[in-house]
Amino acid sequence: MSVLAILGGEPVRRDPFSRWPRYLPSDAARLEQVLESGHWGGFPVPSRYAAEFAEKFAELHGARYGLCIANGTIALIAALQAAGIKFGDEVIVPAYTWDGTATAVLFAGGIPVFADVDPDTYCLDVQAAARAITPRTRAIIPVHLAMRFTNMEALIALARSNNLKIVEDCAHAHGGEFQGRGAGSIGDLGCFSFQESKLMTAGEGGIVLTSNLAHFEHLQSQVNCGRASLTDQFQQQVLGSNYRMTEWQAAMLLGQLEMLPPLAEKRALGAKRLSAALRSLDGVRPLPPQPGITRETNYCYVFQYRDPRVSRDLFCTALEAEGIPCDGRFYEPVYRSPLFCASPEISPQLRDTDYSKVHCPVSERAAYHEAVWLPQFLLIGAGDQGDRDVDDIAAAIAKVLRHSDDLASADPSLAGQKAMSRAQRPRKERAKNY
Ligand SMILES: Cc1ncc(COP(=O)(O)O)c(C=O)c1O
Repeated sequence: MSVLAILGGEPVRRDPFSRWPRYLPSDAARLEQVLESGHWGGFPVPSRYAAEFAEKFAELHGARYGLCIANGTIALIAALQAAGIKFGDEVIVPAYTWDGTATAVLFAGGIPVFADVDPDTYCLDVQAAARAITPRTRAIIPVHLAMRFTNMEALIALARSNNLKIVEDCAHAHGGEFQGRGAGSIGDLGCFSFQESKLMTAGEGGIVLTSNLAHFEHLQSQVNCGRASLTDQFQQQVLGSNYRMTEWQAAMLLGQLEMLPPLAEKRALGAKRLSAALRSLDGVRPLPPQPGITRETNYCYVFQYRDPRVSRDLFCTALEAEGIPCDGRFYEPVYRSPLFCASPEISPQLRDTDYSKVHCPVSERAAYHEAVWLPQFLLIGAGDQGDRDVDDIAAAIAKVLRHSDDLASADPSLAGQKAMSRAQRPRKERAKNY
């Protein structure tokens, strides 16, 4: 253990971590029931399992209504449209997030306006959002990133005083609660993803939560090709499409919902143990606790790398060589991401927008120098093999830090793919699921 694995030594960890995704034995019976029913799709809206799941999921988060939808990106587009976003409206999004948060705004006809994130949470900095407001701003999308929340109390106050809608991006926040209120039920609408890396998954899928009947009716029409909603009290004319979720997905999600609380508890225990271990190490900093969080959600465990001798990317490569899956360039500031295809030829609302001048220093530091992301399945062994899992992670981080001098004198090109944006990595690596 005295030589780094990247330099030819023995890795700290050879065993794989917990498997993800997980499923329940009872899923098989539900899937068989769907098979036998002959009713596999999502029409008429809502179909049996989709209705049952949406009701339970909305209740868990304290929202009046939930509507299942094809995936998290479509959820955001539909929520923005339900919130009334029209061609050329500005929508504030955090710069440090998955590209889909911003591309959803483009698909809805809006203009994403990037605001920086808070250095302790990596979630939207409410003061930066306030500075980004113009007479054309209509909405804000806070993203509850990885394991923290946007300061929703301050954001709601800002939105109210400027007559703006809030669409929460909760793709990382299933089951989480801030100041006693469930993710996705604090703003006007909340969007979740059930893509495979997420805390609950049906392979793909999404849901939108809201407590506003007009928004709910709008969403029902949108997912169902513009057809009238079930209650149709507001009789809205809606440009709809087929965004329906299949019954296969909804059947799987019922089992995923059952597993969410015990798995969340394990992740929280693991995160606590890991933070305690990292606090005693020089060169890394766990994110400080956020007192507003009343129910934890940990999509990924994120910490900050602060050792000036070695680049964060080389540190991540060395850590992965020790057997710990991790990533540094998990996200880039969206305005610099090769996946953010923002051109006025495709999105004419951008004709006066120039993203080359945008600069969000906290997001850039997080993306290129500081943040280290560990996938959530590293934490779900807690309670059985979990302490060992977390202790191995901490031991590997300590080992790499202890050998910073060896790394500093090693060839920096060893950082390899970790120094590339995820979009630029070779296909196989790019396809990785966390
Ligand atoms: C923050 C964030 N927003 C939106 C999405 C989009 O979700 P989906 O992949 O289901 O379209 C994701 C997930 O990939 C995400 O991580």
